Amino acid sequence: MEHLINPLVQSIQISGIRRFFNMVSQHENVLSLTIGQPDFSTPNHVKAAGKNAIDQNMTSYTHNAGMFELREAAASFMDEQYDLAYDAQSEVIVTTGASEAIDVTLRTILSSGSEVLLPGPVYPGYEPIIRLCGAQPIHIDTTNTGFRLTADLMEPYITERTRCIVLPYPSNPTGMTLSAQELRDIALLLENRDIFVLSDEIYSEFVFTGQHHSIASFPKMKEKTIVINGLSKSHAMTGWRIGFLFAPANICRHILKVHQYNVTCASSISQSAALSALTTGKADPKMMKIQYEQRMNYVYNRLLKIGFDVEKPNGAFYIFPSIHKFHHSSFEFALELMEKAGVALVPGNAFSSFGEGYVRLSYAYASETLTKALDRIEQYMSSR
Ligand SMILES: Cc1ncc(COP(=O)(O)O)c(C=O)c1O
Repeated sequence: MEHLINPLVQSIQISGIRRFFNMVSQHENVLSLTIGQPDFSTPNHVKAAGKNAIDQNMTSYTHNAGMFELREAAASFMDEQYDLAYDAQSEVIVTTGASEAIDVTLRTILSSGSEVLLPGPVYPGYEPIIRLCGAQPIHIDTTNTGFRLTADLMEPYITERTRCIVLPYPSNPTGMTLSAQELRDIALLLENRDIFVLSDEIYSEFVFTGQHHSIASFPKMKEKTIVINGLSKSHAMTGWRIGFLFAPANICRHILKVHQYNVTCASSISQSAALSALTTGKADPKMMKIQYEQRMNYVYNRLLKIGFDVEKPNGAFYIFPSIHKFHHSSFEFALELMEKAGVALVPGNAFSSFGEGYVRLSYAYASETLTKALDRIEQYMSSR
């Protein structure tokens, strides 16, 4: 019966990050720096709120868009942090992780033949969904602009079929973010164009230099932007599956239909925990950010010392060194590093063809693990 599977589904692949992670799990004594998952535990007050929700029998469906208090807290977060006013009643949806927010947004706005511009390299969670919509992903090479998708870079790719620009910043896998000026230039480029922006700001709480700005806060951008955020990274809550989507009411009401028929609502227990994260836990990400920044500086300096060419990240918890000078494909390099040095990194081509020639290292791991892994990499690189 397999031949009857939807050809679009047949054509997509399991993400390269997971493929490599699964391979690593079969090897013993390998230090894996492959997964973008905080090594911190979910804060205790958040866990307590989740347990309390179970004890209080808050275990039924919520409003499709999520508990109203949680939507209010999410709207306040956007207002306080990024100076953006969203109406909790009509412009906020609580989703099953940022992943579902990406899925329902793209399925709401794309149709067959639409084109979507994305930076390359990029997080692999967008392309398969774009393809399942019968739309065309157009990756734009950012390897010569410090991994930044600027207005100048994207302008030549805009056609009458361009329906959406995906802007994930700070970026997974490169750790780069966009400055206020770069965002302003994009806003100017799109000023008189009817093109949606899917702004994936899941790492917004982890910006090391300067401050995070949402593109929706620039003139005329809120009306065409869907902002995606969530608690997976900011509050170490990947398994709770809580994301947020912010969009003007006339777009949000259509996305809500897709969300409703997809999941009905996000988990009620996780929503109660999320409310604690956004109210009592406003300072939680700050503590983690300090640690991520320390680790980033450590990893960056060690990689430079070992001889890698590497851009200094300004956010998230990834670093993306070049391996061009070692004359290996990124897959061969990562495989050899795993087999000979006992360290697993993700081959850059998991992030589109523009990631070829790079590897991604996630430093969302304990300092001791990072030190050990970098010692191994140093030893291996000096002996090859
Ligand atoms: C850029 C980006 N967007 C979205 C997600 C998915 O987040 P969630 O776990 O909340 O679904 C990730 C996860 O790694 C990510 O890196």
